[in-house]
Amino acid sequence: MKIIRTIRALRKALAAIDGSIGFVPTMGYFHEGHLSLMRTAKRNNACAVVSLFVNPTQFGPTEDLSRYPRDLARDAGLARTAGVDIMFVPTVEEMYPAGASQTVVEVGGIAGILCGAVRPGHFCGVATVVSKLINIVLPDVMYLGQKDFQQTVVIKRMVSDLNFPLRVVVCPTVREPDGLAMSSRNSYLSPTERMQATAIYRALQMARSMAAAGESDAGKIIFKIKKLILDETSATIEYVNCVSVADLQDVRRITGKVLIVLAVKFPSARLIDNAVIELNVDEKVRR
Ligand code: PAJ
Repeated sequence: MKIIRTIRALRKALAAIDGSIGFVPTMGYFHEGHLSLMRTAKRNNACAVVSLFVNPTQFGPTEDLSRYPRDLARDAGLARTAGVDIMFVPTVEEMYPAGASQTVVEVGGIAGILCGAVRPGHFCGVATVVSKLINIVLPDVMYLGQKDFQQTVVIKRMVSDLNFPLRVVVCPTVREPDGLAMSSRNSYLSPTERMQATAIYRALQMARSMAAAGESDAGKIIFKIKKLILDETSATIEYVNCVSVADLQDVRRITGKVLIVLAVKFPSARLIDNAVIELNVDEKVRR
């Protein structure tokens, strides 16, 4: 595996590749979620490229940019064993020579709701850096995780609106054995918070069971999710919404497959998660 730090050197290395390029953008501090994307990229392409860049433009002024966990030596070892061919690790100056980008990518509508409402400018930073990375790597396929569902919708929309010639593949959320979605930010949690954080997955599972038992009232499901999380953790709730899978718009009555999306704030870390739930129509009729 090559570690490359400049755009120029990366372009040179990529020019020699014969076959498809699979690309995984990341901010590092790898866990099994990142590694599953890298393995999928390698399995399906001639060359797997991963970028590791903690992108300052997607962090708000009071967010965790300066303490975001970083460990390049460990990450390089993990990426190598996942089969990555090229790891692109640019500096902030390499990506933003003028301090930031004067040209930005603003995705309307879906970028302003849910996480976008709580983190103004976040998805503009994400869309801008991902579009820069796409133009640098020129991948055939880009792999993203379902864990950050809104991010996948925003990026897919950008790729479609701006006619980027690549395919976006969304891979399933990888979880800890107790159900907590893997995240680099889980490392911020205290041992007590880490234990309590399993309530998030239990709440999503409960939502799944409610829909499977015929509950079609999104409000009732959201109420129960909030109650479970508030009863069992020290977290506050930023949002719990029941939305359509296609465009993240709120759904009040569940008819088929919908998505529960949520963000909760522990004293030490903000966590997000989501799950697709499906109404069991037979059960609804029986009730
Ligand atoms: P980061 O949080 O490092 O995540 C990189 C990729 O890994 C994203 O596509 C994310 O959805 C995926 N991922 C994270 N946790 C996962 C899990 N538990 N299971 C499956 N996939 C998971 O997302 C970013 O970085 C940045 O916003 C980025 C897209 C790189 C732009 O800066």
